[in-house]
Amino acid sequence: MYTEKVLDHFNNPRNVGEIEGADAIGESTSTSCGDSMKIWLQIKDNVIEDIKFKTFGCAAAIASSSIATEMIKGKTVDEALQLTSEKIAEALGGLPEHKLHCSVLATDALKKAIEEYRGKN
Ligand code: FES
Repeated sequence: MYTEKVLDHFNNPRNVGEIEGADAIGESTSTSCGDSMKIWLQIKDNVIEDIKFKTFGCAAAIASSSIATEMIKGKTVDEALQLTSEKIAEALGGLPEHKLHCSVLATDALKKAIEEYRGKN
């Protein structure tokens, strides 16, 4: 039911962890299942230089979080905000219909982190 890409990112998630002294932190909890994701951003000159995450959730949530960090790293804050859950699912080669909400955790946590960053700066 999962693509090779989902299984790869689930088994070997990229950018797992925390960033000490992060410029922004965002957290999101799914209203439909209670799973959650937390994201840490290091931002310099409006570019997301580093990103780490921790996700307590299903395989699709972990794979989505992992690939999202790869898609965001090195992007400007504005570019990162263009990331949608549809683009994450597409990058994973697709997600089962009932697992599409799992990719929303990453975009939601990212938006919250950037809102916090913009509030501070
Ligand atoms: Fe909860 Fe996937 S079932 S995030």
